[in-house]
Amino acid sequence: MARMSDRQRAVVLGGPLAILLVSFVVWLLVGEVAFLVAVALTGALLAYLIVEARGFSLELFERQLKESRTSYAQLEALQGLLWTFKPDAPWPSTRFWAASPDLLREITTHVLLERPQVVVEASSGTSTLVIALCLQRLGAGKVIALEHDPVYVEKTRAAIALHGLQEQATVIHAPLVQHDVNGSKHQWYDLSALQLPGSIDLLVVDGPPETTQKLARYPAVPLLASKFSRGARILLDDGSRPDERLMARRWAEENPGSQLEFLHLEAGAWSLRMP
Ligand SMILES: C[S@@+](CC[C@H](N)C(=O)[O-])C[C@H]1O[C@@H](n2cnc3c(N)ncnc32)[C@H](O)[C@@H]1O
Repeated sequence: MARMSDRQRAVVLGGPLAILLVSFVVWLLVGEVAFLVAVALTGALLAYLIVEARGFSLELFERQLKESRTSYAQLEALQGLLWTFKPDAPWPSTRFWAASPDLLREITTHVLLERPQVVVEASSGTSTLVIALCLQRLGAGKVIALEHDPVYVEKTRAAIALHGLQEQATVIHAPLVQHDVNGSKHQWYDLSALQLPGSIDLLVVDGPPETTQKLARYPAVPLLASKFSRGARILLDDGSRPDERLMARRWAEENPGSQLEFLHLEAGAWSLRMP
């Protein structure tokens, strides 16, 4: 009973009561024929409940089918990554708070093909590890991750150390501070400790969390705009969310000549190629 919705409770309890009431009134009016009315109404109620239950099972089946297709696609991408890197230490989680394997595959493909020398990440985690593994394989390049949360600074640093990637990756503790972005105030990572070895070839934006403020990730491009190399690429995770759609379009408008593309990944992503 506890898991029933109000509507279900009304049908299950109210239906038989209504049948009893109607049958009683009909019995008062026309006598024993009321028996037929009760049978017909009970049949109608049962048919209605069967149709409802079927609809519910169908909906559940479709949701499970969708999830199993998504899981298959993500497992396929994860397997590709594990084959590519053959890690000799445990691999941190993917999906949910971490980047999904399909985005990590997109990042890996980009880094291995385009060989960025300087990668900056807004946030840190599994994605930092994957970028560092790519750079290790290429034998050049550096990823610098900005992380506001000291707990995740330590977690990502530990993962980097476990995989022996300290040369390729640095995690900077960058608390969220107020910035002036195009005339309005925004919380974003403190950039005072950011020392770049060159201009940014790739920026991966997966933080700060959306709960920090409206358009939480928007400052990434305007605040780093002067540090991009020609043709730098920006990848924005969670691109299906309304805020991310809005900020990606705003970035493109604010950078005439840039190319914006939506990537159909599990969480959606935006790719912005700077002019
Ligand atoms: C979307 S996560 C970034 C994930 C990262 N790109 C990765 O692939 O692991 C954004 C921020 O959320 C925080 N975070 C990461 N995992 C979390 C968790 N399980 N619960 C709460 N916050 C988390 C960290 O501060 C992180 O920088």
